[in-house]
Amino acid sequence: MNHFNDELHEIVLSQDGSYTAYSREYDEHYHSTKDGALKESLLKHVISAFKIKQYQDEINVLDICYGLGFNTLATLYYHRKNSLKSKVNIYSPELDASLVASLKSFTYPKEFDNFKNIILELSEKGVYSDDNFYIEIFLGDAREYIKTFKAKFDIVYQDALSPNANPTLWTQEYFSEIKDAMKIDGVITTYSTALATRLALYKNGFNIYLNVADEIRNSTIASQKKLNNFVLVDMEHKISCNIDAKPLRD
Ligand SMILES: C[S@@+](CC[C@H](N)C(=O)[O-])C[C@H]1O[C@@H](n2cnc3c(N)ncnc32)[C@H](O)[C@@H]1O
Repeated sequence: MNHFNDELHEIVLSQDGSYTAYSREYDEHYHSTKDGALKESLLKHVISAFKIKQYQDEINVLDICYGLGFNTLATLYYHRKNSLKSKVNIYSPELDASLVASLKSFTYPKEFDNFKNIILELSEKGVYSDDNFYIEIFLGDAREYIKTFKAKFDIVYQDALSPNANPTLWTQEYFSEIKDAMKIDGVITTYSTALATRLALYKNGFNIYLNVADEIRNSTIASQKKLNNFVLVDMEHKISCNIDAKPLRD
């Protein structure tokens, strides 16, 4: 029994058997119901980023935005499953305080069964820490939150609602603020493959790579430093073929 339904959200079963939410406010699902919430989180974000960063002693992650917390919880799952030694610090903004408070009743996939105490603490206090993890949820606007960090993040999960539904979290200026908050060799993962999103990143000096995984749609990974094992997107060619394409602006 899922007790989570409220005025703003409806619970929806996604293709991989995990539940996600449909937002009535934004008229959009929190995850691709076709790809599946857990699969999307693991394959488009966590595994892609951690393959690059998992050997660092300490990894700082910016999880935009917390929502149902799949990206944060899938990070814990991946870390435990692979017996990683790194200390992981996750910082995640979320506007909707009542959503966070209700997550203790959300029906998560069995892969998150070991994290029931963490889910409860995050839902009630917005912060959790142990020897391996520090997690904080900031209840407020992501744009304000990211300005408080300088050269901090190794990984950014860019998982806001779509550019149509929530444009302020996809503009060229937004990605400039994200860049300032990241280390020079940090990576950004996002489900968006839209040219406007890639342009907003590219104009800030990011290289754009195609992120391909079996059974789910392609996504994007971006980094100022060159990445091995990902196919570079030829942005100059894309721009020459789409001369009217523009990044979103504030
Ligand atoms: C697509 S969901 C995030 C999905 C999430 N990664 C997950 O695993 O469930 C987007 C979330 O962004 C939040 N949001 C929208 N605008 C925001 C803003 N300006 N700052 C912080 N959170 C915001 C919404 O309340 C929503 O919960």
